[in-house]
Amino acid sequence: MVAEVARTPAPGAPAPVRSLTVTVLGAGYVGLVSGACLAELGHHVTVTEIDERRLGALRSGMVPIRERGLDDIVDRQVAAGLLRFEDARTVDVTKSDVVMVAVGTPSQADGRVELGHVEAAVRQIARGNPRALVVIKSTVPPGTCDRMQALARAEGGTGVRVVSNPEFLREGRAVQDFMQPDRVVIGARDAADAAIVEQLYAPLDASVLHCSPEEAELSKYAANSLLAARISFINEMSAIADRIGADITRVSSIVGSDARIGPAFLGAGLGWGGSCFPKDVHGLARVAEDLGLAAPMLTATIEANLRQRQRALGAILELVGARPDARVALLGLAFKPETDDVRESPAVWLAHELHERGIAVRATDPWALANAERVGPRVTYTLDPMRAVDGADVTVLATEWPEFVALDWPEVARRMRGDAVLDARNALPSDLLRSSGLVYRSLGRDVLGR
Ligand SMILES: NC(=O)c1ccc[n+]([C@@H]2O[C@H](COP(=O)([O-])OP(=O)(O)OC[C@H]3O[C@@H](n4cnc5c(N)ncnc54)[C@H](O)[C@@H]3O)[C@@H](O)[C@H]2O)c1
Repeated sequence: MVAEVARTPAPGAPAPVRSLTVTVLGAGYVGLVSGACLAELGHHVTVTEIDERRLGALRSGMVPIRERGLDDIVDRQVAAGLLRFEDARTVDVTKSDVVMVAVGTPSQADGRVELGHVEAAVRQIARGNPRALVVIKSTVPPGTCDRMQALARAEGGTGVRVVSNPEFLREGRAVQDFMQPDRVVIGARDAADAAIVEQLYAPLDASVLHCSPEEAELSKYAANSLLAARISFINEMSAIADRIGADITRVSSIVGSDARIGPAFLGAGLGWGGSCFPKDVHGLARVAEDLGLAAPMLTATIEANLRQRQRALGAILELVGARPDARVALLGLAFKPETDDVRESPAVWLAHELHERGIAVRATDPWALANAERVGPRVTYTLDPMRAVDGADVTVLATEWPEFVALDWPEVARRMRGDAVLDARNALPSDLLRSSGLVYRSLGRDVLGR
């Protein structure tokens, strides 16, 4: 039996709208999108940052991350006077109805969540406003809100209350997800605090779910871990599909057509990456471990993901063979399409592994080139996919950008030195590739190839 969570507003009842004064700490994907969208909803928002370059860019009218629609909202709301950018170290939070924490919570070396940025932010807020209502948007382990409230009070913020309001937006669709959320989750001890946070979202036609802070915190981890587990599961199935001569994409659509299951996150391929799934699945596994609990599903989710990457690497090495001067074209560097984020990207991992083995890699991505050049291996980066495939022995689809799927594949075939393509996202038109004279390989669709 599933427990009922309180749900407001009542169907059909128009939500009252009151403009709030909001300060957001952190101008990353979550802080910047949340801040800009809250301004779009009519609130007075100050987004703050400690990174001087990022702050300088924002103040000079540049949006440092790529998200569809974000630039327009930022421009519009800055011009309207509802959105501004300030230095986090000197911002005045005394008049803020809500101070939102959207700073990073990266993994430590052992997988545990690094809470240093959140703690520093909460200390600073408590010193600036001892009665602040703090809303934690960052993804934090269960129990963190209560610990942060105790920390704030120890710091002199005797009236500080800390509420959990996890963010579920997806990079690549962040603005749309913020404006049309499946639900807004508010984890608060006090109904009056919850009501203020709810006011933030009042203009949206959103279902608001109220719960305790730790339920909100765990829900975020559970949601991301379940999504990652679905991908790991279907990737495990893709290995079986390859062995028995089945097409995993057909299997996925049959399985996903079951109303109890649904089609999302059942795409077999190179596996999950990004700034959230890896750190959240590892983080939750550590939470379980610290509680003395076994969490074999989380561990298996991680292991299956690593195994799938190795499988892709093995397939490329097999296609490359013994050529001493092998060249691989890598189509895609972002961890998924529609983002410039390369954090924990399986594509960058592949580039690194191939480079380590002395294979010449030419990599391309429409958005993520600059980020990949900054953190990736010293391979050749080019914006032009046709330059990437020029003279390649093997071409690999590592991120399923629509422009790669729609490449002129007969032209790719003419430009390559070899003829092998690994479709590591199971997204390419296999028949067209084959009719262009290419040898099509995939992770679970090689029905005709083997
Ligand atoms: N990226 C996503 O898609 C996503 C989705 C949902 C939830 N989350 C969670 O939201 C949180 C933020 O993620 P992100 O991807 O936006 O991170 P990010 O690294 O892109 O941005 C965080 C920003 O906070 C700044 N910062 C650090 N300390 C600060 C302080 N004291 N005051 C002001 N700014 C400060 C950093 O300089 C950085 O620019 C994480 O906990 C993440 O797990 C992320």
